[in-house]
Amino acid sequence: MMDKNITWLDHKVTKEDRSKIKMQKPCLLWVTGLSGSGKSTIANALEAFLNQKKYHTFLLDGDNLRYGLNKDLGFTQEDRTENIRRTGEVAKLFTEAGVIVIVSLISPYRKDRQTVRDLFDKGEFIEIYLSTPLEICEKRDPKGLYKKARGGEIPNFTGISSPYEAPLQPEIELDTSRQNVEETVKILCSYLYEKGIIQS
Ligand code: ADX
Repeated sequence: MMDKNITWLDHKVTKEDRSKIKMQKPCLLWVTGLSGSGKSTIANALEAFLNQKKYHTFLLDGDNLRYGLNKDLGFTQEDRTENIRRTGEVAKLFTEAGVIVIVSLISPYRKDRQTVRDLFDKGEFIEIYLSTPLEICEKRDPKGLYKKARGGEIPNFTGISSPYEAPLQPEIELDTSRQNVEETVKILCSYLYEKGIIQS
């Protein structure tokens, strides 16, 4: 709960001032999907591409955040909601700093993703849904977690014993079993180019 004795400070330097120096338009690229759908791989490759093009970026990856900022959170619905809230707030700070932010989080609940979207200006929050089917994610099983979840070793595992609510109107939907990483990044960059976020 916010204390009533707290007052918002209007910053002298705005998001626009900071972005201007960076010569870029900040935004949040929110990558959502099942475990094994390719979120971290795509997010990593996209950041590498943008960095090479000299854009100022930062990747907030779900697993990595759980090593620090979110280390006190588990996988109940309540904890995931808090995980998404915190990550959304951090992403907001980065965009205020003029940075292009990429988030990769399962973020299984529509309501939580909408709450983050609502923090941002129109067009700033770009939801990228990796719709790779569960059967393929489970076959890939890069961390061996589906096997453990099927064996009852991991409770509340997304797609198995915990729900995933697919976005109804994502800005972009991609199935990573249909094209390789390079092609996927290309599609994402075409979108960013169309929206005037990147120049070429
Ligand atoms: S989220 O649901 O709160 O958005 P987040 O993206 O941070 O999840 O973390 C997902 C990662 O945690 C997965 O990539 C997987 O490695 C690991 N993990 C551990 N337990 C679970 C679980 N019960 N459900 C899903 N992922 C889990």
